[in-house]
Amino acid sequence: MSSSPELESTVADTLFSARESKISLNELAGVVQASPAHTREAVRRLKRLGYPLRVSPAGVIERLPFKLIDPHQLAAELATEKIGRRIEWRLHVRSTQDELKKLKDEAEDGTVLVAETQYAGRGRLTRSWLSAVGGLSMSVLLRPTWPRAHQILTLAFATAASRAIRDVTNVSSVLKWPNDLMVRSRKVAGILAEATYQGSRLDHLIVGLGVNVNIEMTRFPKTLRKASTSLSHELGREADRSLLTKRIIEEMDKSYQRFELGHISELLDDARRLCSTLGRKVRVTTVEGNLVGHAVGLGDDGQLLVRLNRGVTVPFYAADVVHLR
Ligand code: BTN
Repeated sequence: MSSSPELESTVADTLFSARESKISLNELAGVVQASPAHTREAVRRLKRLGYPLRVSPAGVIERLPFKLIDPHQLAAELATEKIGRRIEWRLHVRSTQDELKKLKDEAEDGTVLVAETQYAGRGRLTRSWLSAVGGLSMSVLLRPTWPRAHQILTLAFATAASRAIRDVTNVSSVLKWPNDLMVRSRKVAGILAEATYQGSRLDHLIVGLGVNVNIEMTRFPKTLRKASTSLSHELGREADRSLLTKRIIEEMDKSYQRFELGHISELLDDARRLCSTLGRKVRVTTVEGNLVGHAVGLGDDGQLLVRLNRGVTVPFYAADVVHLR
């Protein structure tokens, strides 16, 4: 195997599933069928993501103690209706969205896939998402029958995640339309809903959630540092990632039940209360260009309603929004 993110995944799986906590570089290279140089490079990249690995000058790799999310414990503790009835766990994947998609033909509605880290986590509008050790990266597979589920569930799950974060950590976050949770105007979590259609029928939806739980600020790329935060940074101590994951799944499940019962206006009202975009002057960017106006509400499908200076109110279904005031 040559040096690649896939090799990184294999190396991570090998190191963290081994009974022994130490292995020589040459032995590891043999197991993962790669050259020692490529294997060393994969170990170096995993360390950069925050994996607790020590490499001795003699080429011995040591795995230091590290608390992973335990999918069996999580499954045992959850008593949800639909979301989280099946939990899949991975160590280091490209993206939980892609990993869950591989299971879409056999996995039931509500299947959750959690990964410790991702090497190509993605956000909306082709942005990348930092998925270092200590974060929470998860995706949920859903087959809603309601066609406009995409936007509503993004808002409903952001609201659910905000509630769970507050319950577990006491940190209050607000919703920046359409998919960001913000603390002190810095992003702490994001949602990505990806829909697959069969003709005009929604086949399935994969909703991903990334939360910066226990991430040191220095892990964020310099360009994102001022715009990002983590729960551990806000708290001055680490948060309980397993408990938070459980509470998020429970809150998402409750929201999904309300969604399936058709209680859309209640879900939207909750999102409106949390939404810090409303009442602000905003710049909205779409493929057609930029517009400046005042965010005056959320429509019945979760669209952002923006009143332009000339008095017209325009609905936006997909856009990038900047808060100006
Ligand atoms: C955004 O900020 O635009 C959304 C970020 C969503 C990140 C999560 S992490 C789990 C899931 N897998 C991904 O690749 N993306 C989402």
